[in-house]
Amino acid sequence: MNTDFTNKTAIITGAGIGIGFAIAKALAQQGATVLLNDHDEQLAENAAATIQQAGGMCEAMPGDASDVPFIQRMVDTAVSRFGSVDIAIANAGITIFGDIFTTTPESFQKIVDLNLRGSFFLAQTAARQMRAQRKGGSVLFMSSVVGHLGHPGLPVYSMTKAGLEMLAKQLVIDFSPLGITVNAIAPGATLTERTLDDPTYIPIWSRITPMGRPATVEDIANAALFLVSPASRHITGQSLVVDGGWTSVGIPPV
Ligand SMILES: NC(=O)c1ccc[n+]([C@@H]2O[C@H](COP(=O)([O-])OP(=O)(O)OC[C@H]3O[C@@H](n4cnc5c(N)ncnc54)[C@H](O)[C@@H]3O)[C@@H](O)[C@H]2O)c1
Repeated sequence: MNTDFTNKTAIITGAGIGIGFAIAKALAQQGATVLLNDHDEQLAENAAATIQQAGGMCEAMPGDASDVPFIQRMVDTAVSRFGSVDIAIANAGITIFGDIFTTTPESFQKIVDLNLRGSFFLAQTAARQMRAQRKGGSVLFMSSVVGHLGHPGLPVYSMTKAGLEMLAKQLVIDFSPLGITVNAIAPGATLTERTLDDPTYIPIWSRITPMGRPATVEDIANAALFLVSPASRHITGQSLVVDGGWTSVGIPPV
């Protein structure tokens, strides 16, 4: 199976910690050059330094992944520093809890701006560059299981994640003639710095996940690497759920 990323340049957003960092680290370990974005400059610099210390090629690109001019600067930087953009991973996403009655226009806008607008325009900007390069490429969106199943307090977030999965299907039309694949990953509960803040997270998700535990960031990174590798070159427009079986069964009545 070909999962070699030598001579490939990847851009990944929101990768200072969590799932994005795990994907960036794994890509660099397998030979990719990574432009690592995070809104938090210190997190971006630390993450890039950690990957470099482990022998990977990685450069930090701090900035707001929902800002369209900044997205263009990320693509331009990848090209000027490394010569190409071959993989674009729109990982940055925010979760703001609140039901339909308490959601404000401001929180709605914030979630939509990053989760949908940032992902949409990263796909557009990276694919324009891939089109000019004439050697294909891969785009990956970060969805969620709540793009498939309702979850209390996440009406806007779940809507954006379902939207990303539809966007992956839609972009098949424009990207396939260019040899660009576009897919989504839908992680279930995943242990990250953020989710580990909640002491009930592991016990609850271990009980209700058929595989008996929440995902690790490596579980998600493994799926991501497959979907941006030559091994998945005929897979496009798809969403891969990585949730230990959670969305396959209803929660038992206990
Ligand atoms: N952790 C989970 O359980 C889980 C489950 C399903 C889906 N997801 C999705 O996976 C992705 C990564 O989730 P996570 O939990 O690892 O991330 P996270 O919430 O821990 O955030 C990762 C990084 O994103 C950065 N970030 C926030 N806003 C940004 C912006 N505007 N521009 C650039 N960077 C920004 C943060 O500074 C942070 O370092 C998200 O899209 C999330 O919705 C996560």
